[in-house]
Amino acid sequence: MCGIVGYVGDRNLESVLLVGLERLSYRGYDSSGIAAISEGELSYWKTPGKIRELEKLLQNMNVQGRVGIGHTRWSTHGEPNEVNAHPQVNTVKKVAIVHNGIIENYQALKLKLIAEGYIFRSQTDSEVIVHLISRYLQDSLLEAVERTMLDLEGTYAFAVIAESDPERIIACKKGSPLIVGLGKNENFISSDINAIIPHTKEIVYMDDLDIAIVAQDKVTFKKLGGAVIEKTVHQIAWDATSADKNGFEHYMLKEIFEQPAVVRNIISASVKGDLIQFDGLRMGNEDLIRTTRFIIQACGTSWHAGLVAKYMIERYARVLTEVDISSEFRYRQMISGVNDIVVAISQSGETADTLACIREAKSKFFKVLSFVNVRGSTIDRESDGVINTNSGPEVGVASTKNYVAQLVNLYLFTLYISQLKWTLSQAEVQTMLMELKKVPDYIERILEQKEQIQAIAEKYYKKREFLFIGRGMNYPSALEGALKLKEISYIHATGYAAGELKHGPIALIDDQLPVVCIAPKCSTYDKMMSNIQEVRARKGKTIVIATEGDTDIEEFADDIIRIPDASEDLTAILTVVPMQLLAYYIAVRLECDVDQPRNLAKSVTVE
Ligand code: F6R
Repeated sequence: MCGIVGYVGDRNLESVLLVGLERLSYRGYDSSGIAAISEGELSYWKTPGKIRELEKLLQNMNVQGRVGIGHTRWSTHGEPNEVNAHPQVNTVKKVAIVHNGIIENYQALKLKLIAEGYIFRSQTDSEVIVHLISRYLQDSLLEAVERTMLDLEGTYAFAVIAESDPERIIACKKGSPLIVGLGKNENFISSDINAIIPHTKEIVYMDDLDIAIVAQDKVTFKKLGGAVIEKTVHQIAWDATSADKNGFEHYMLKEIFEQPAVVRNIISASVKGDLIQFDGLRMGNEDLIRTTRFIIQACGTSWHAGLVAKYMIERYARVLTEVDISSEFRYRQMISGVNDIVVAISQSGETADTLACIREAKSKFFKVLSFVNVRGSTIDRESDGVINTNSGPEVGVASTKNYVAQLVNLYLFTLYISQLKWTLSQAEVQTMLMELKKVPDYIERILEQKEQIQAIAEKYYKKREFLFIGRGMNYPSALEGALKLKEISYIHATGYAAGELKHGPIALIDDQLPVVCIAPKCSTYDKMMSNIQEVRARKGKTIVIATEGDTDIEEFADDIIRIPDASEDLTAILTVVPMQLLAYYIAVRLECDVDQPRNLAKSVTVE
């Protein structure tokens, strides 16, 4: 994973690099560092911890220069300490690199380099890159980088600065994202647009084995071992969005409370009168009409959205829908059909497992349609069709508003396909749209219960284990509720299809176990009632998510959170909201770092 940034120009180098790193910290935040060349001399600073630790370190330093690189890390090889942080430098500290990716043959290269007398300081795979460059460096840094690239197996986007070539950054990539930002008498490199959009909107996307030679007045591109190439310059149409907390204590809470507005925005962007339309879909209706199977690929929360979509698409559009965890997709010999469409769902648009799936799908001539939040991301660019999930920037590592945005877009997509395939009448679609339009108000009503949910969190925050159960499209909600809790509070939580309880997990239930039971009034209600009673019979504590006005359930609930009486198809969008708040308040009570939980990153760019 990790994020890299680089700058050549007259602005304050430290500030450009720190702003870039802060904006990249969703890619990893366990350590960070920068390197700069000033008056021909290389200096570097790095530290474990979040970017604010680096900021503190630099307060007492005098960072000078017009050429610099920076890195924020999510550890793969070696623990997050100062030595393993980037930049990595060569033995004599005259060449520095920052790297995102994994060098798969680093062990063999390292042994070879050690035998030649190179001294390794870190446990990182990345350090081989800087020693290889050093090994090949005679007259030309560019040549040394090219020879190094030939030795490397795995994935990389790396940037190099060296005292021997003090006016330029050389950056290259294979498998990991890298862009170049073009300015007026200044230039940038970065893992994504987000880090440099405050400074420039002219972007070049690097392709695999491209090399950028970045000087202050120009950027030259070439292919590894080839001649100079021309690259297309893209004008980015959007602005740097401010990502402040708007008075909320954490981004996660702010993003939970933004959900009504997010749903309103999506509806007003995609529903025009009686029509559903997706701007920039890039996929013709003929492909969608012909489809006989959707194969959904996603990870984590986005996978849960895919599971909900299966219920909706199969029920209304009558299209067979399979849902795969992206990292598992490649381990089955999928039978391909000519009219299949692979659907990728990803907030970041950079998740390596999902990206690998769509590349594999495309190599097998599948059409790929993606639901992506981050515009310009790799999955956005590499898909045949794209539906932007339009939740705005999500900063909290635990996905909240984008999950709800995914569900709303998938609901609209279901209606869109159903219209195309004539599986729903126009009147039915209109009724379902009317129901959807009530969702923002419904979410607001749930959010009004925040104090009550906080009180439930207070009651249970010391428990070390939770169970979440649901049925039908609220089974994925149970998985999502459990994921939210475990990722931000480090409490072990498991989501189950309620009917599965009796096949094993019921053995866990005792008077200490809180069980979150998702039981809205819908077709699965009676069965859920039975499951809740099974939990109660074994003295489990039931926190029930129930429909307003349902008094029958009160007898079986230790605690109740209410959701409005909505159509069954929309319950998954509603039931997740109280679980987001419950997870949030428990994590806050445990004094966990809610926005940047340990070991995680917002964008998972390693497989
Ligand atoms: C959990 C969470 C993750 C992501 C997963 C996929 O709150 O955010 O489980 O959903 O890493 O990420 P994207 O959607 O960016 O592909």
